[in-house]
Amino acid sequence: MTQESKCAVVFLGPPGAGKGTQAKIIAERYKVPHISTGDLLRDNVARGTELGLQAKSIMARGELVPDSLVCDMVASRLRQPDAEMGFILDGFPRTAAQAGWLDAFLEHEFIDNSHRAKGLPVVIQVNVDYNQLLRRLTGRRTCPACGRIYNIHLQPPRVDETCDIDGSKLLIRNDDREEVIRERLAAYELQTKPVADYYWSKGRLLSVNGDLPVPEVTTQIVRAINQRAKCAVEANNVSGGGD
Ligand code: AP5
Repeated sequence: MTQESKCAVVFLGPPGAGKGTQAKIIAERYKVPHISTGDLLRDNVARGTELGLQAKSIMARGELVPDSLVCDMVASRLRQPDAEMGFILDGFPRTAAQAGWLDAFLEHEFIDNSHRAKGLPVVIQVNVDYNQLLRRLTGRRTCPACGRIYNIHLQPPRVDETCDIDGSKLLIRNDDREEVIRERLAAYELQTKPVADYYWSKGRLLSVNGDLPVPEVTTQIVRAINQRAKCAVEANNVSGGGD
């Protein structure tokens, strides 16, 4: 797959695994939108929309927002023209129901010859040690202006609490408090792990070691995307299809 080619990716992994960090890099590299359900929900909360009002207290407790609300939000985002050539989904699907919904949605709306890559996202699971997750989440800081993600322990900004790019004061996410982090990790174990099983059973799950430094994790992901794209092209040629 060249950098300009179509690219559809789903990132799975626990809170703090580095999904957002990697999704931004991959989206930039392949020129497709980074669609983070967490960011979309936080934006709705900040704007006080109907969805935001429903999601606010659920997110503050570290629980998952109901499937129907999140699926509607994702559907309208995926239908926007900038997702035409692909997308990076970060934080979705997060339940087995969402995973089933996504497959059905992509099949109905997008799978035809011109959207084959979009219909079959590469599913990448980012694995990280539990203690490392806690360190990453408690140290995370985010720029409210450009969205760049820092970590005071692992990837600090040049000047304390200040974005290197635009000088904004960095923020701590509302759900990065220890008691909420525990709840989020529990929700992951209970509700999101079955999503990995779902893709594994379909032979679509690829795993990367997320404990490594950011550039090394990126290298593994790019390799996985390119490898899967090559397999898809080969399978397509064998079956007589083709874009
Ligand atoms: P969401 O925003 O999706 O949060 P999350 O899944 O808990 O994931 P995080 O954003 O915390 O972690 P990340 O893996 O992106 O890590 P990051 O790159 O930031 O969801 C928030 C809430 O919204 C949910 O709790 C739920 O309520 C709701 N929600 C969202 N989607 C939903 C859905 N589909 N259904 C229902 N509800 C939904 O990195 C973390 C830190 O580690 C950073 O400081 C970073 O600098 C550092 N770091 C990253 N990679 C490395 C590395 N390789 N080495 C060292 N440090 C690293």
